[in-house]
Amino acid sequence: PPMTIAYDLKASVRTIPDYPKPGILFRDITTLLGDARSFRCAIDELVQPWAGSKIDKVAGIEARGFIIGGAIAHQVSSGFVPIRKKGKLPHTTVSMSYALEYGSDIIEMHVDAIKPGERVILVDDLIATGGTAEGAIKLLRQTGAEIVAACFIIDLPELGGAAKIRDMGVPVRALMEFE
Ligand code: PRP
Ligand code: ADE
Repeated sequence: PPMTIAYDLKASVRTIPDYPKPGILFRDITTLLGDARSFRCAIDELVQPWAGSKIDKVAGIEARGFIIGGAIAHQVSSGFVPIRKKGKLPHTTVSMSYALEYGSDIIEMHVDAIKPGERVILVDDLIATGGTAEGAIKLLRQTGAEIVAACFIIDLPELGGAAKIRDMGVPVRALMEFE
């Protein structure tokens, strides 16, 4: 069930109709990020289950996952690892194909970014079909990471992504749901 938050965080997300395509209701988190109280509330709520437990790395998915993930890593005093679109990282990478609505793409991570057994939280701004998060989890598992959870500001539950990630054995935390 959607969690109850002390502060009305959901109201700080802006909805843009017909972006990037007709019929899509785009959930724009820039308004949440731009409001100091909302941004702090979102980060504090997301990390709440891991207060006092050791997290080695936060892995953030390009591009909006970098913003949320960087703030979470600072809050839990962990390292930050970028998971990027193909061709953006300078050192040797491991890569994984992942499913898009139409077709597929490739995400990459530095081969030495995570050591076997490290406790990792995966972070992105939003989960829809879960294709991106599924690819990221496969990538992280290749390195021997222990994936503690996958965290998102927004879940679009009708698209089934969160259920798919839970079926992979990864707990999902999201602060709000939209249709
Ligand atoms: C969005 C969002 C997630 C992904 C979720 O990123 O930030 O990464 O889509 O969709 P899924 O659950 O169906 O895979 P986008 O592809 O727009 O990339 P960007 O953050 O680089 O703009
Ligand atoms: N990524 C996939 N679906 C989205 C939506 N409705 N709003 C924002 N980002 C998305």
